[in-house]
Amino acid sequence: MIAIVVVDEKMGIGKNGQLLAHISGDLKYFKEKTIGKTIVFGRETLETFPGKKPLPGRKSIVLTTDKEYRTSCEVCCSIEQFLEETSDIPGDELFVAGGASIYEQLLPYCDKILLTRIYKEFEADRFFPELDSSVWEEIWSSELFEEDGTEYRFFEYKRVR
Ligand SMILES: NC(=O)c1ccc[n+]([C@@H]2O[C@H](COP(=O)([O-])OP(=O)(O)OC[C@H]3O[C@@H](n4cnc5c(N)ncnc54)[C@H](OP(=O)(O)O)[C@@H]3O)[C@@H](O)[C@H]2O)c1
Repeated sequence: MIAIVVVDEKMGIGKNGQLLAHISGDLKYFKEKTIGKTIVFGRETLETFPGKKPLPGRKSIVLTTDKEYRTSCEVCCSIEQFLEETSDIPGDELFVAGGASIYEQLLPYCDKILLTRIYKEFEADRFFPELDSSVWEEIWSSELFEEDGTEYRFFEYKRVR
């Protein structure tokens, strides 16, 4: 499983139910990486998508405890159910797309993280878990990009233990 996330300098990921910044280069990267694959996210994150609809071109799974939740995505009501229903999907085709509660619960099952770091600090109320350097090794980083005065870079981490 692969976590995909955009963080600020303090590992912030969201505020008031929204992303911290709109970076079209990062949205494009997210699309390139996840198109044709399966993505999982929490119910709060689904409700931030345009029209509260799943993103096109991907199989989407939403985690919610509400068994009656009405959506066009596949619904899983627990981590256990999600793990069981995705057990036949190759790990490099299954992306964990947030939010904070889902990263927290599924990071132990991930062996890779695609992390976009924005070189700025926002006021955030949701965070990605701190990366333990004895567990996560940086294996790649991109050049520095800039959009509307905001600098960012793509990183890949792999689990080493
Ligand atoms: N920077 C990024 O890359 C990124 C990516 C995604 C999201 N975000 C941001 O993160 C924030 C949302 O994060 P969040 O932590 O508040 O919400 P979330 O993780 O998106 O969704 C939380 C909801 O998921 C469901 N859930 C969580 N664990 C579950 C479990 N074990 N079994 C069944 N359902 C479960 C619950 O839904 P019910 O209440 O319906 O039971 C819970 O209320 C927003 O600000 C969003 O913009 C940032």
